[in-house]
Amino acid sequence: MKKVISLLTAAALAASIMVGCGAESAAPAPTQAAETKAAEAADAKDETEATEAAEAAKDTGDAAAASGVDVANAKVGISIYKFDDNFMTLYRTELMRYLTEDLGFQASNITIQDGKGDQAEQTNQINNFINEGRDILILNLVQASSAPQITDLCTDAGIPVIYINREPEADEEARWDGTVTYIGCDARQSGTFQGEEIVETPNGGDINGDGKVSYIMIQGDPENVDAQYRTEFSVKALTDAGIEVEELFLQRGDWDQAKGQQLTQDALTQFGDQIEVVFCNNDAMALGALQAIEAAGRVVGEDIYLVGVDALVEACQNVLDGKMTGTVFNDHIAQAHTVGDTAVKMLGGEKVDSVIMVDYSKVTAENAQSVLDALS
Ligand code: GAL
Repeated sequence: MKKVISLLTAAALAASIMVGCGAESAAPAPTQAAETKAAEAADAKDETEATEAAEAAKDTGDAAAASGVDVANAKVGISIYKFDDNFMTLYRTELMRYLTEDLGFQASNITIQDGKGDQAEQTNQINNFINEGRDILILNLVQASSAPQITDLCTDAGIPVIYINREPEADEEARWDGTVTYIGCDARQSGTFQGEEIVETPNGGDINGDGKVSYIMIQGDPENVDAQYRTEFSVKALTDAGIEVEELFLQRGDWDQAKGQQLTQDALTQFGDQIEVVFCNNDAMALGALQAIEAAGRVVGEDIYLVGVDALVEACQNVLDGKMTGTVFNDHIAQAHTVGDTAVKMLGGEKVDSVIMVDYSKVTAENAQSVLDALS
């Protein structure tokens, strides 16, 4: 497995360290040159991290220029599991921008389709891409469990595939030979970071002092490994820290804000003040949860804690304003850039690693402003 250090994470880290030292500087906009980010990352105290970030910056800058691949004429097929998803909307927007503005792909040669949450429909789209003779496919599967079938369709047709965001099973990844890859993040890390954000509160999440943390869990789509791992590892971070936990409620909210609101409202009605922590597998659901929390007259940071994942701008603002305890940055920018750079390599016939991971990072009140600055 290859690991990519997120440029934005490195920049935010450098900025937060600078803020910690009393400087007024903010992290740069993500559109700035990779070299600038590398230079800023070099300010970070952790030299290893800064060096790795500098290497990553260099890789990004080099990818298109050094490839010699005729990207302008490359025909790309992209299918997103559902356009109506906050995080994947940010991701696909940055992916299209990076492919066309930074790498030189022609927008007219890229077709991006909405899988509409329907695997049968998405499989049809993929078959059409194959029949049209696309040179490479970038696929955010509706159901990651369809990967074996989709991989066979594409490899039989000799078309390289980059899976994104929804990770296939390990035994599927194990049979890939360099022409198929998964680019994403290790969801275990995001769950652990969420749990740690609760552990790091003044009372370790035990607001009522009864010796245990009573929580509710608003889950994403449970078919998705992100939902499974975030659910498991957020709680594990508490138990690993020696904290006793009590699960009051666990329901699937399918990554959706309205469902997050409804489920949190239901849980608050049923369990009231017993709820000390609301874990949401993503920020969209956490934004919904916050609406329910406020409607119930509860106050985040005083009588309840709330964490999400993604670092949507609205969520980072809530963290800054104390309305959310924390979130975790799901770096759609580094992921989109890694996808673009890897696509260029694969189009050039280069074999790539089967799994390429980008790091998550914590967003708390201390660094939310620098993450916001970096995202703007
Ligand atoms: C997750 C993300 C969610 C949702 C999901 C879709 O990584 O945190 O907000 O976009 O992917 O698969």
